[in-house]
Amino acid sequence: MTTIRLGDEFPDFTAETTDGTINFREWKGDSWALFFSHPADFTPVCTTELGALAGLKPEFDKRGVKLIGISVDSLESHQGWTGDIADVTGNKLNFPLIADPDRKLALELDLIHPNANATATVRTVYIIGPDNLLKLSLTYPASTGRNWAEILRTIDSLQLTANHKVATPVNWTQGEDVIVVPAVSDEEAAEKFGSFDAKKPYLRYVKQPG
Ligand code: BEZ
Repeated sequence: MTTIRLGDEFPDFTAETTDGTINFREWKGDSWALFFSHPADFTPVCTTELGALAGLKPEFDKRGVKLIGISVDSLESHQGWTGDIADVTGNKLNFPLIADPDRKLALELDLIHPNANATATVRTVYIIGPDNLLKLSLTYPASTGRNWAEILRTIDSLQLTANHKVATPVNWTQGEDVIVVPAVSDEEAAEKFGSFDAKKPYLRYVKQPG
């Protein structure tokens, strides 16, 4: 089992998916990727999550983020379930789902938390950058469906802060003011961003750059 922490290189793997055999690194290229696990096929919360994610794919495409899911079910099971997802949510699956019936990859990627469930994958979100490093990790229990709007919000923050010396404050969304990182001096901040609003010497707001 690999514990994958922020900043670590995300492991490469080859797996069977609903879109054929995929080598992760080749498939991902230099895009961003949202890699997520879900506990099981033919379960209610997962059905809503995957259908909603399929509906939001254009939003992820716009941000250059590829989507890929995994659960410890077989390819046949995944294929059977996709009809239900379309039925219930109106959205056809439009991203690959990895089949992992022997739990090999799930174990390798730390997706089974034995004290929560010894056999099924938890709901993990890994966001991987163009450099193949892990940028964000979230884990939800089986009983709590994820909020994809929040995941899109975190991607907006990750992509903005990768390119500018800023951080995003609580509940920030695209277009709102951001914070100059502490490592930037007032002089540099003025040079880079023009004026800034210093609520405290360490809390300096600027308009969202870029
Ligand atoms: C679900 O996706 O609905 C689910 C899966 C496992 C346990 C509880 C709920």
